[in-house]
Amino acid sequence: MNDAKMLEGKIALVTGSGRGLGYAIAHRLAELGADVAIHDRSQEAPAEFGEFADLDASAASIAALGVRAMAVTGDISDESATQAMVAAVESTLGPISVLVNCAGGDIAAQGGKPNPNDALGVKLEDIRALFDRNLIGTMLMCRAIVPGMMERHTGAVVNIASAAAHFGRDTEVAYGSAKAAIVHYTRCLAAETREQGVRVNVVSPGATKTGRFMATRKTDPTFMEEGYSLNRYANPREIANGVAFLASDMASFVHGQALRIDGGLTLYSG
Ligand SMILES: NC(=O)c1ccc[n+]([C@@H]2O[C@H](COP(=O)([O-])OP(=O)(O)OC[C@H]3O[C@@H](n4cnc5c(N)ncnc54)[C@H](O)[C@@H]3O)[C@@H](O)[C@H]2O)c1
Repeated sequence: MNDAKMLEGKIALVTGSGRGLGYAIAHRLAELGADVAIHDRSQEAPAEFGEFADLDASAASIAALGVRAMAVTGDISDESATQAMVAAVESTLGPISVLVNCAGGDIAAQGGKPNPNDALGVKLEDIRALFDRNLIGTMLMCRAIVPGMMERHTGAVVNIASAAAHFGRDTEVAYGSAKAAIVHYTRCLAAETREQGVRVNVVSPGATKTGRFMATRKTDPTFMEEGYSLNRYANPREIANGVAFLASDMASFVHGQALRIDGGLTLYSG
């Protein structure tokens, strides 16, 4: 295997890749040779924090790396939309061999962050929106794609959770709970796909410098600099490298695992 192009021949769908971390992941997979379907909930979503003019512009910047790229839109919490997206990608690029479920985030029903955002005060409509766009969306995308992977006896799924899934906090509570459920769903799905050789893993990033992260919270300037200290925010590429590893044949015996890429924020087992 040529490590420089270790994903050559793979066809990847990265949800939420019009911008932010999903875009960084799609970019890294394409650099390593994968053809990539770029997805977002709408053509306009990549412009929300000024990253791209629209989804076609995100996809064009991936295609400029010399791989096949296409844009596809749809709400991941709508089952018929997920099925239509998968059909569109597979008829254009071919059978999907890598699925990265990155779409999601601590986004309230009406946009922005939930307020209140704690265990007892968070609004019911926000709880439902958070579970829809994180856990349910991840499950529906897996249900639309993994059976085909199982029939072909090949494929890799990387779900994106969060460091927030791994410890108790008094904020981002519904979000952290939905992400913890994604970690557990990953293990359960891994039990179901083990015999068929479809690998399923989850990456839990720590705070990462994406457009939305920077725009929606008060950031600590001392955590911005990428020097020797690991007590800082991640660069999206640092998360993307871990996803690329799990998506590749380099991780051929890694299955059902949670990889916490958080600079050692969570230094404990489990
Ligand atoms: N940035 C961080 O600090 C951080 C840390 C841990 C985990 N994460 C996770 O990484 C992922 C990406 O985060 P980001 O910082 O790049 O944020 P982002 O908002 O830029 O990216 C999320 C993407 O998902 C899309 N999306 C949201 N709901 C959707 C839906 N229902 N259907 C289709 N698409 C939908 C958005 O439009 C966007 O493109 C999220 O799952 C987030 O929870 C981020």
